[in-house]
Amino acid sequence: MSGPRIGVVGATGAVGTITLELLAERGYDVRAFASARSAGSRLPFGDDEIVVEEATPEALSAGDVDLFLFSVGTGASRELVPIASAAGAICIDKSSAYRLVDGYPLVVPEVNAHRALEALERDRIVANPNCCTIPLTCVLKPLHDVVPLKRVYVATYQSVSGAGAQRMEQLRAEPSADHNLVMDWSWEGDESDEESKLRAETRKILELPDLAISATCVRVPVLVGHSEAIWVEFEEPLSPGDATAILTDAPSVRVLRIPEVPTPKDAAGGDEVLVGRIRKDEGSVNGLALFLSCDNLRKGAALNAIQIADVLLAGVAAA
Ligand SMILES: NC(=O)c1ccc[n+]([C@@H]2O[C@H](COP(=O)([O-])OP(=O)(O)OC[C@H]3O[C@@H](n4cnc5c(N)ncnc54)[C@H](OP(=O)(O)O)[C@@H]3O)[C@@H](O)[C@H]2O)c1
Repeated sequence: MSGPRIGVVGATGAVGTITLELLAERGYDVRAFASARSAGSRLPFGDDEIVVEEATPEALSAGDVDLFLFSVGTGASRELVPIASAAGAICIDKSSAYRLVDGYPLVVPEVNAHRALEALERDRIVANPNCCTIPLTCVLKPLHDVVPLKRVYVATYQSVSGAGAQRMEQLRAEPSADHNLVMDWSWEGDESDEESKLRAETRKILELPDLAISATCVRVPVLVGHSEAIWVEFEEPLSPGDATAILTDAPSVRVLRIPEVPTPKDAAGGDEVLVGRIRKDEGSVNGLALFLSCDNLRKGAALNAIQIADVLLAGVAAA
């Protein structure tokens, strides 16, 4: 097989499974890595299977992989990404390890693809944002380009797959045990780390360091698909009709009109951010309210990272 060789680290996980599926569809030459626990196991890869290798420092620094997609958690990323990067590979990391570190691009290709290329001048490491930040910025950016944002409030309804493969298994095995709303995040004082990440990552991607943005993040008993209720205040008036027209032309966004509304069930398995309920926010000046749903494992994680990979590989080819 010709073309770049891609290493998927965390291939047995919730995000890794979808990453393999998307790479097989695109015909990439792939190697699969996970922890010692999974080494030697076989995973579906298109019509074939792929054998999982242990992600040892030796394997990641062998120099025979052009680009690694990491979905292993923050601690493992901090340990493994520098090893692969030092061996010359491009690394796209889906954990929180690099997202807010100065000098590391945090990329949603529809919003700031140009930032990804900066990594080629440094250590070739690009961070993939949180699964709620990605669809939020896909919607906010095209609106902000027309009328500047003043204030954003977000309430999330996040599926259990956002917490990994094990939590998906739990919900499948015992659906009634999980029929609750949970806030299973780490706490930073009165705010969860999920809420502060959503604020900080959105500010970094949109390059609006002072954007007033507040979130309440909640996990719901849904298998796949995160949803967000969003209230946006603009510097000047923007009508629901104009916002609908702007978002209809926005990349990776599909606008739904009443009686159609975005749901995680409809978003799951798809590549688009579904946006609807676009209406005037009667509680604010120059405000709009919207609702979105997005597949957190695809555009919220695996697909976004592969789109970043495509930008970087094209950049390398053009150099
Ligand atoms: N789920 C989402 O919607 C989502 C969205 C955006 C970003 N992310 C981020 O993506 C990462 C993975 O999430 P996930 O939901 O896919 O988790 P997951 O289902 O728990 O999968 C974790 C994966 O990491 C592997 N792993 C763990 N420690 C490792 C180590 N030391 N060396 C090599 N492999 C190791 C596991 O391998 P074994 O099977 O061998 O244990 C497994 O393949 C996290 O940082 C998460 O924050 C997730």
